[in-house]
Amino acid sequence: MRSVLVQLLAVSGIVLAKRKYLVPGARWYDTDGGLISAHAGGVTKEEDTGKFFWFGERKVEGQEEGGGVSVYSSDDLLNWDYGGLALAPIEGHKYISPENIIQRPKVVFSESTGLYNMWWHADNSSYGWLLQGLATSPNISGPYTFVDAFSPMGNWSQDFGVFTDRKTGDTYALYSNGDSVAGRDDFISKMNEEKTNLTEVVYTFVNYDLEAPTIVQTDSSYYILMSHKTGYRPNNVVAFRARSLAGPWSAPFTIAPLGTRTYNSQSGFTLTLEGTEQTTHLYLGDHWDSNSLWESRYIWLPVAIDDDKGSLELVWRDVFELDAATGIWTAPEGKGYYAKDATVLGGAYKQEANFASDGTIIAGIYGNDSTVTFEGIEGTGKPQWVSFYYQNTDDMGFGDQPGGSPDRIGGKWQLRRIASVVVNGKTEELQTLYQRDTNKGIILSTPLELFLEEGSTNTITVGGLFNGVDYKGADLEKIVVYPPEE
Ligand SMILES: *[C@@H]1O[C@H](CO)[C@@H](O)[C@H](O)[C@H]1NC(C)=O
Ligand SMILES: *[C@@H]1O[C@H](CO)[C@@H](O)[C@H](O)[C@H]1NC(C)=O
Ligand SMILES: *[C@@H]1O[C@H](CO)[C@@H](O)[C@H](O)[C@H]1NC(C)=O
Ligand SMILES: *[C@@H]1O[C@H](CO)[C@@H](O)[C@H](O)[C@H]1NC(C)=O
Ligand SMILES: *[C@@H]1O[C@H](CO)[C@@H](O)[C@H](O)[C@H]1NC(C)=O
Repeated sequence: MRSVLVQLLAVSGIVLAKRKYLVPGARWYDTDGGLISAHAGGVTKEEDTGKFFWFGERKVEGQEEGGGVSVYSSDDLLNWDYGGLALAPIEGHKYISPENIIQRPKVVFSESTGLYNMWWHADNSSYGWLLQGLATSPNISGPYTFVDAFSPMGNWSQDFGVFTDRKTGDTYALYSNGDSVAGRDDFISKMNEEKTNLTEVVYTFVNYDLEAPTIVQTDSSYYILMSHKTGYRPNNVVAFRARSLAGPWSAPFTIAPLGTRTYNSQSGFTLTLEGTEQTTHLYLGDHWDSNSLWESRYIWLPVAIDDDKGSLELVWRDVFELDAATGIWTAPEGKGYYAKDATVLGGAYKQEANFASDGTIIAGIYGNDSTVTFEGIEGTGKPQWVSFYYQNTDDMGFGDQPGGSPDRIGGKWQLRRIASVVVNGKTEELQTLYQRDTNKGIILSTPLELFLEEGSTNTITVGGLFNGVDYKGADLEKIVVYPPEE
């Protein structure tokens, strides 16, 4: 699946240009132009080469489960080569057939065996087994050979995470143990040296009913991040802090502004880059799209930690540059174009909004005749990232009638609106902008890469496209145009 833009880029050869920016929530493509499909996974660094390997659930159109585990490799965390399936499903296999659940894969290296071990949440299609799966390979990129699927120390295991302590080299399995009343705990359990089995529970978060665990380690602290359990709908991820994995752990606290549902993402992995100049912790979240899981994206963000206060928060940037070698990240400055200066047509209108940056949003964006056009946009003649700041007040779903209230029983649980974006009136190059739910009064941004002509006469027109329910686009506050990557 290639977007129109990627096809255009491929024709002009631009897609082969190296990526410099990390753009949370954009469609990410590998170096062959394929949509990156590695959901709920993890990134493992190969020590000898310094290369990063990203493992995750492969979900393609028409096949959202049962796709196995894909692997991508990169030197810089920005440009990813697709390496095929690291763990391929086997027809008829008891644990890894296409009918089985193979979720949240993570890979750890064992010094004592010289093998890479892949762990995941192994299950039957109705989540009745709650096991951990193990496969090994002498090569980090695989292929991995299935070893076993088992109950960790006799207990259940659902969402799976892994953490290796940088000081001791010990590895821990992190897992929630299910949705049943008896299973609402979360475990940190130590692995053996071979990293093929669990040996003891180090800590249990009793009755928190959280999932998608990952741990960030600093010089003095550990922070465990977990989400609440709302399926593929995002919620407020929380963190706890401790000086020892065995606790005591702090009370949980949120890691992103309330109302943003963790910038519409779910936790699952964090990566610490010990660069030559600075240590940077990255949050590698999943930007699920429950309407279309294979189109789910990724929210990767830097994390700000203050060990004196025991605080950790995600740092939102529309676009940022990351140097994986030095560990330094910086964000380019963009230029904003505001709702109050834009031109509205048809039923689209400017509405007072005290939470918007200049007190105005544009509401009523609908179909192709109720649109908003931002004018006088400066461009460079090269592809540029443009962030659309919007409010989507569906609150995680329309009801089953127009105007129906969102969280009602039987609601359709739409998670996003789809807007159309047209540059300089070129409707043949229309792009789709997915605008996931925010909350009333909460503005988030979502990016698209656009071709703007050199000069300051560009226009960007936004309308509404069909999203399965109707043709509404979300309310717009502003757009921000970033400098090109070169
Ligand atoms: C999954 O396993 C559970 C427990 O053994 C069983 O009750 C359930 O029927 C199984 N589901 C399927 C689809 O086989
Ligand atoms: C591991 O990688 C090496 C070098 O690419 C290759 O020669 C070897 O066959 C691989 N081993 C397996 C088991 O895939
Ligand atoms: C799993 O551990 C919990 C305690 O955290 C316990 O209540 C539950 O019975 C255990 N389940 C199994 C199947 O051992
Ligand atoms: C894994 O560890 C458990 C105890 O922690 C033990 O009962 C079990 O036999 C071990 N499994 C293997 C395959 O060594
Ligand atoms: C505009 O939208 C209507 C349906 O809302 C559709 O029938 C029509 O083809 C669209 N026109 C263009 C130019 O996209």
